[in-house]
Amino acid sequence: MLTISEYQEQFLIYLKSQNIDKEPKNLYQPIDYILQLGGKRLRPVLTLMTADIFDIDYKLALPAAMAVEVFHNFSLVHDDIMDDAPLRRGNETVHEKWNINTGILSGDAMLILAYKYFENYQPETFRKLAKLFSKTALEVCEGQQYDVDFETRNDVTIPEYLKMIEYKTAVLVAAAMKMGAIVARSSKENRSLIYDFGLNLGLAFQLQDDYLDAFGNPETFGKQVGGDIIENKKTYLYLKALEFAKPTEKEQLLHLFSTKLDDNSDKIAAVKEIFNTTGASKATQKTIEEYTLKAFETLEQIKISEDKKAILKAFGENLMSRNT
Ligand code: IPE
Ligand code: IPE
Ligand code: MG
Ligand code: MG
Ligand code: MG
Repeated sequence: MLTISEYQEQFLIYLKSQNIDKEPKNLYQPIDYILQLGGKRLRPVLTLMTADIFDIDYKLALPAAMAVEVFHNFSLVHDDIMDDAPLRRGNETVHEKWNINTGILSGDAMLILAYKYFENYQPETFRKLAKLFSKTALEVCEGQQYDVDFETRNDVTIPEYLKMIEYKTAVLVAAAMKMGAIVARSSKENRSLIYDFGLNLGLAFQLQDDYLDAFGNPETFGKQVGGDIIENKKTYLYLKALEFAKPTEKEQLLHLFSTKLDDNSDKIAAVKEIFNTTGASKATQKTIEEYTLKAFETLEQIKISEDKKAILKAFGENLMSRNT
């Protein structure tokens, strides 16, 4: 096994060898831009690690890892249009740097490009990967639609929220790992267990993303802090705040989330204050820990060495303490 930064490095070497920046420039430059912009490379690293964990050379999983990362970046390009986000990884979003139409078409091309990477595999593996990918990609769209629909609803429940983040985020983390297991031709049982591990890790990951969106450090976060508050996103923080709030706080929060403003600094400060005073912030952190522990429980059922389990656990713990 390699270290996480070694997997990242190997993935980057592969990415750079792909020479994505072709003609027409206005289609491919934005694709190259977003893919080279950095990011944690969480999903491809998980694909490569999982291949190693199930005893094949991780290099065989590089095309699958690339498919997952290209898909993820596609979803970010379109997500940033939908969320009206100015910043991604500390830089301008694609639609800000170019324009919305460029973001749409370059994004579409990325979705197709992602699929093309499966052509590197033999028919049986290809079929399994493509099948999982199609299911996952549709679920991500469903999750994204719920996320948008919830912006204008004020009766969203916690189970609805959990389903939304499972679809928009967790299924791709889960699929990234399962793809590593598919390439490794691991047993059906292992494929399913590693998927469950990734799913719970992915839920913890999105809860943490919501938390950082409000409370992250603008210097290191890389996205617009408070973006979810500006867009009236029904995050876990918001739903827990409503649940715990005293009547006057509840009224204030509902009012703050019923508007879209030009100047948002007062709104962001007021909402964060309510997240803290109601105990929603603490509750969110507790839930992040619970889902991470749930992932670790699944890990115990997988028949792999203790060393390998320790590596996956360290990965999960790292994710919980991230600030970007
Ligand atoms: C951002 O994903 C979108 C979510 C699902 C929360 P990441 O936080 O993995 O983004 P990068 O790739 O590291 O920038
Ligand atoms: C994004 O969720 C999920 C997908 C892109 C599918 P967010 O909208 O919370 O992601 P960020 O915060 O913009 O990275
Ligand atoms: Mg979004
Ligand atoms: Mg977003
Ligand atoms: Mg977010």
